[in-house]
Amino acid sequence: MNSQTAHKEQQLSQIIQLLSDGQCHSGQKLAEELEVSRAYVWKLIQQLQEYGLELESVSGKGYLWQSPSALLDSKKFIMALGALNISHEYDFLMDSTNQRLKEKFKDKHLVITEYQTAGRGRRGRNWQSPLATNLYFSYGWKTEQPVQQLGGLSLVVGISIVEALDIMGFEKLQLKWPNDVRVEQQKLAGILVELTGDAAGDLEVIIGIGLNVNMQSQQETIEQEWTSLANLSGRSIDRQAILVFVLKQLQINLKLFEQEGFAAFQQSWNQYDESFNKRVEVHQSNGVLHGTAKGVNKSGALLLEYNNEIKPIFAGEVSLKVEAS
Ligand code: BTN
Repeated sequence: MNSQTAHKEQQLSQIIQLLSDGQCHSGQKLAEELEVSRAYVWKLIQQLQEYGLELESVSGKGYLWQSPSALLDSKKFIMALGALNISHEYDFLMDSTNQRLKEKFKDKHLVITEYQTAGRGRRGRNWQSPLATNLYFSYGWKTEQPVQQLGGLSLVVGISIVEALDIMGFEKLQLKWPNDVRVEQQKLAGILVELTGDAAGDLEVIIGIGLNVNMQSQQETIEQEWTSLANLSGRSIDRQAILVFVLKQLQINLKLFEQEGFAAFQQSWNQYDESFNKRVEVHQSNGVLHGTAKGVNKSGALLLEYNNEIKPIFAGEVSLKVEAS
């Protein structure tokens, strides 16, 4: 990063920090604090809005951040990460945390950012990442397991998120196969697992998680129905606490997954399964299957009852929609 970009990011962070008190700040005041012109402050504000920060211009008064949250502060979570033996890399913005980790993979390594310019979702979709609002991170995990045994991995990641949030007191959490975390059929978190490393050596697994924490009403451009922890609880949520709980649970579950495979998680999955015993549509490249979801098998494949038979459907081949009854 060149020094001009770094300086601009620092100015953007400074404005966020000033606005995070939830009060109205005049352009003049912000200009004085940053020692820049009012016109330049306006440009910075425009940039923040482009990055998805929900700022309001209050006429005659200044700028207001309606649902403020503090910026991530790696100094604060570094202790917790140290206890988990996790190294980390934090930048104000990145193209994609998965991409960054892919370029320079490290085991037990966290890559986290406030904003992604090219956040990736499953099936080539884009993952919108409004600035300083949600959690966007990737975790590096090296494993000796053969690739064939990693089928249920993304389901284990979903279970880890749900368990962590459950421990923290959030309710009505459910999972939609293969790995969406949902509440009342609205998406709360998405998972994108990618693999690197050569076939002969250990596999390098990139576990990307996007978790809606403080996102509120203004993201009309997101195609799917969504919710956030702030929506569920009616208050702004400390992203750092959520991050640490999720990583902790993920580490516990990755260890168990390595020792016992997905079979150890089959029951947990079925407990949170949104579609269990419901009529569903399974979209495949060659058509749509209509049937009744019957949970998952010991390798994490979806069990679908159709044509009087229960058949396993494997990850990556299908998407699933709960039919309106
Ligand atoms: C999905 O489509 O449901 C998966 C979304 C995964 C988004 C996360 S955000 C952090 C990480 N970096 C990315 O580019 N994508 C994942």
